[in-house]
Amino acid sequence: MSTDKNKQPGATAKLDTLGGTHSFPIMEGTVGPSVIDISKLYAQTGQFTYDPGFTSTASCESKITYIDGDEGVLLYRGYPIDQLAEQSNFLEVAYLLLNGELPAKGKFEEFEHAITHHTMIHEQLRHLFSGFRRDAHPMAVMCGVVGALSAFYHDSTDINDPYQRMVASRRLIAKMPTIAAMAYKYSVGQPFVYPRNDLDYTANFLHMCFAVPAGEYKVSPTLARAMDRIFILHADHEQNASTSTVRLASSSGANPFACIAAGIACLWGPAHGGANEAALNMLREIGTVDRIPEYVKKAKSKDDPFRLMGFGHRVSKNYDPRARVMQQTCHEVLAELGIKDDPLLDVAIELERIALSDEYFIEKKLYPNIDFYSGITLKAMGFPTTMFTALFALARTVGWVAQWMEMIDDPAQRIGRPRQLYTGYTHRDYVPAAKR
Ligand code: CMC
Repeated sequence: MSTDKNKQPGATAKLDTLGGTHSFPIMEGTVGPSVIDISKLYAQTGQFTYDPGFTSTASCESKITYIDGDEGVLLYRGYPIDQLAEQSNFLEVAYLLLNGELPAKGKFEEFEHAITHHTMIHEQLRHLFSGFRRDAHPMAVMCGVVGALSAFYHDSTDINDPYQRMVASRRLIAKMPTIAAMAYKYSVGQPFVYPRNDLDYTANFLHMCFAVPAGEYKVSPTLARAMDRIFILHADHEQNASTSTVRLASSSGANPFACIAAGIACLWGPAHGGANEAALNMLREIGTVDRIPEYVKKAKSKDDPFRLMGFGHRVSKNYDPRARVMQQTCHEVLAELGIKDDPLLDVAIELERIALSDEYFIEKKLYPNIDFYSGITLKAMGFPTTMFTALFALARTVGWVAQWMEMIDDPAQRIGRPRQLYTGYTHRDYVPAAKR
């Protein structure tokens, strides 16, 4: 395929196929690679494109998040992630992602009030928890309970009503910490702790996780700030697997609670959100600095499926700016908790050093990703590894919801329906069992 007049209005790309040469419009974004609009390709040529894992396919137009993986850039609505992590807070970032702008005077208070007053869940939902085994993975519980929200909030499932969409998005953002905290409490056999309106979003979450009725629990401002920053870093990452799952589920007109449950299911996988849990488990397995070379060798071997968890990213081919903030947050949390010698941190620092100077990782542009340091931080804060991905889901709900809202407003969106290159049998006749 050749392109002409690239970056100029009216530019086209020409494709030579068996049936002749066809022109396709080139669309320009505000920044980043242009895209070739092949939506009419099949109509014009009778052929599909082949792109496993959608590595070269833009599935939508979006104004929410921009990533330049080569340059290590991540912008939410144009604002660099490190500025937001440093100067903003998670709820303000949520407002920004949902509405496109930072809140004007008075708007934040209104939004915060609305979110705060949606944090309780229907009392009947509590009973759903007791149906799970005690040792259920919190992500299994999250998939089930979030999907079940559609059975409780019938007045916010009509996706064609903008008011209901707004209520559903606020309910999801508000109730996710409550559900995640309940999943945690259930797993450790402690009573659920109700949300408190006098605490901010993140402090309330930590309180619901770590308070017990028998005593007072004071949320550490440093830990609350660190948690808030972790939420900001995880809030959105453009069309990643779980976000694309939410968009695909929603393209059929499914209700928002069901769509977010689909996103949670996708996020659970170790190649995506499950990597933070997998990364910490890997550091534990390595155990000591002297064993690192053995694991690096395994990761490089073509015959071994082992990968260094917390390294590599489909889009980020430079040091992920989120990983940088996460690394700093990790050190702050360990200092606040007075953890001077964490053997896992020693392994992590040395593993990072070795990997960053190893030809294999340099050549393949495999840098530590956000999950590399988040596990150590969350463990230090007192979360079990099984909760790590649930925390990711809590934060990413904001991105999922913003992308879902954007998609519903986009007239170009239709039901998602990829095609295939069929390589199975052609027609053959059924053979009765007696003749096989
Ligand atoms: N350790 C060792 N080798 C690796 C790793 C790794 N972590 N990641 C990629 N490679 C190799 C891979 O074997 C392949 O080698 P070759 O070209 O010789 O076949 C090459 O690098 C390219 O990898 P890929 O799997 O084709 O790249 P991808 O874009 O499909 O996969 C990834 C990206 C994140 C799934 C992958 O890097 C990975 O599995 N990393 C470990 C899991 C992880 O940390 N995931 C968290 C991602 S960040 C959080 C999120 O966004 O959810």
